[in-house]
Amino acid sequence: MSAWLTIDRLGLTEGGTRIIDDVSLALGAQRTVVLGPNGAGKSTLLRLIHGLLHPSGGALRWAQPLSQAMVFQRPVMLRTTALANVVYGLKLKGYKANECARRAQESLARVGLEHLARRPARLLSGGEQQRVALARVWALEPELLILDEPTASLDPASSREVERIIGEIATNGTRILMTTHNLGQARRLAEEIVFIDRGRIAEQTPVTEFFNQPQTAAAQDFLQEEMP
Ligand SMILES: Nc1ncnc2c1ncn2[C@@H]1O[C@H](COP(=O)(O)OP(=O)(O)O)[C@@H](O)[C@H]1O
Ligand SMILES: [Mg+2]
Repeated sequence: MSAWLTIDRLGLTEGGTRIIDDVSLALGAQRTVVLGPNGAGKSTLLRLIHGLLHPSGGALRWAQPLSQAMVFQRPVMLRTTALANVVYGLKLKGYKANECARRAQESLARVGLEHLARRPARLLSGGEQQRVALARVWALEPELLILDEPTASLDPASSREVERIIGEIATNGTRILMTTHNLGQARRLAEEIVFIDRGRIAEQTPVTEFFNQPQTAAAQDFLQEEMP
């Protein structure tokens, strides 16, 4: 598995605290899930990779530039229709108006929301809004999709639906790099688990191995607490 991203001694220090502490990591799997306790630095690591934060030290080395998009726990919806929210992202990428409309419709249909296309996005349920957010990024067909706890504020049914969509986006060839609180979801979606603890990489293993035989005490404790 050749790495599409090599992270070399990445660090982020805020107010004297090392939030990301000398992280070196090669990401080569198509579906990677980052796990770790609250405050371990998962969101910070993903934001660094997406370029939303500037590291204090170290470097990200991309094997080749990848088009990328990010989805957060709480989707940011523009004050307009679901469809216009999807069109917006496409317009920014320079698609022509008729192409935007066609792609946006198609993308909403793929997340099962074509019937809500004309609804104001902010009046949709949390799960529907997250699906609009996924339609928005899916329409752009990014080579890498980063998701930070995309189902953390959703009920189980919405969560399963969002998980299904993420799986489909992956099946269509997009690399997935995500965090989740839901270990069942991690197990189903991940090929590889990166476990981080206090800003450091504790282990990086194929998913089955991680759940059956975690190598570090930190991961063992984490699994015991999360899966009593
Ligand atoms: N801008 C910031 N300034 C200071 N501390 C921060 C900042 N952002 C995050 N932190 C701290 O860094 C740690 C890691 O945060 P985060 O990446 O959100 O963890 P996780 O997503 O694993 O829960 C936490 O202790 C958090 O309080
Ligand atoms: Mg987080």
